[in-house]
Amino acid sequence: MTKYGSFPGARPRRLRTTPAMRRMVAEYRLHPADLILPAFVREGIAEPAPISAMPGVVQHTPDTLRKAAVEAVEAGVAGIMLFGVPLDEKKDAAGTAGTDPDGILQVAIRDVRAEVGDDLVIMSDLCLDEYTDHGHCGVLDAAGRVDNDATLERYAEMAQVQADAGVHVVGPSGMMDGQVGVIRDALDQTGHEDVSILAYTAKYSSAFYGPFREAVGSSLKGDRKTYQQDPGNLRESLRELALDLDEGADMVMVKPALPYLDVLAKIADAVDVPVAAYQISGEYAMVEAAAEKGWIDRDRAILETLTGIKRAGANMILTYWATEVARGL
Ligand code: PBG
Repeated sequence: MTKYGSFPGARPRRLRTTPAMRRMVAEYRLHPADLILPAFVREGIAEPAPISAMPGVVQHTPDTLRKAAVEAVEAGVAGIMLFGVPLDEKKDAAGTAGTDPDGILQVAIRDVRAEVGDDLVIMSDLCLDEYTDHGHCGVLDAAGRVDNDATLERYAEMAQVQADAGVHVVGPSGMMDGQVGVIRDALDQTGHEDVSILAYTAKYSSAFYGPFREAVGSSLKGDRKTYQQDPGNLRESLRELALDLDEGADMVMVKPALPYLDVLAKIADAVDVPVAAYQISGEYAMVEAAAEKGWIDRDRAILETLTGIKRAGANMILTYWATEVARGL
């Protein structure tokens, strides 16, 4: 055989010859404890309600949510991220249901904590869009724009009620400037020094949130482009990162995951805190829809996306497949 550079001596295929060999040399592998299950709980329903754009995902009743939490623990999943869906008539301009100590999310936190205690890291979405009648992540000013600083006051109240309910980690997802600092202050001043903040640090204005709107019954008109990031920006994420860390973020997150793996890799390289990625509703729907049509191998596609997200640098992955995948690992 003619020598071409280091060929034929060097043959990378040698390390791919058998399943055992491939397993041995694998650089990244998923573990159940990498995974966090996002879960929706809806007020006023007697049976879990399917979400048509997310086949296999439901809006839980309090009972089925408890069950889902127990199943997640049994599968070895690390945590659960809770989203509350209030009755339509409880939505208003200020998102009042989000700060009601007996609001749906607070009840869900107490329920799940009572059910699984500290066996699962209990996290909650800290954002107003599930509770506002206009569907924005904050309160609006007289001109109809999302008012950053007025929204921060609402977030501070949300942090307190969620922490009072027993959450371990709050996840501010509204992309308001100063949200991490204000929430840290609110938690510390109310005796919740041990509640951590998972900051949605790089959260992009994405078409892939589509199915989530159905999941939380959101009536958003317009878009979130004045607060979420433009998909064309990378350096901006590093600025958001620096600000969040400065304000006291314990962990940072990139969202969505798959279209932003470069952002994830950059952030993972730059920090000394845990990094999460959120594989969002549209990423889930895309795989499920193609699999349903028989166009891709569902199970392989799921593992491939999750492995890619881990390889890009995520320590933690929020995925609607968390329990299923954890069971299979
Ligand atoms: C905001 C929030 C959203 C998601 C998580 N938190 C929606 C948005 O920003 O528009 C999306 C999650 C998903 O799509 O799976 N409360």
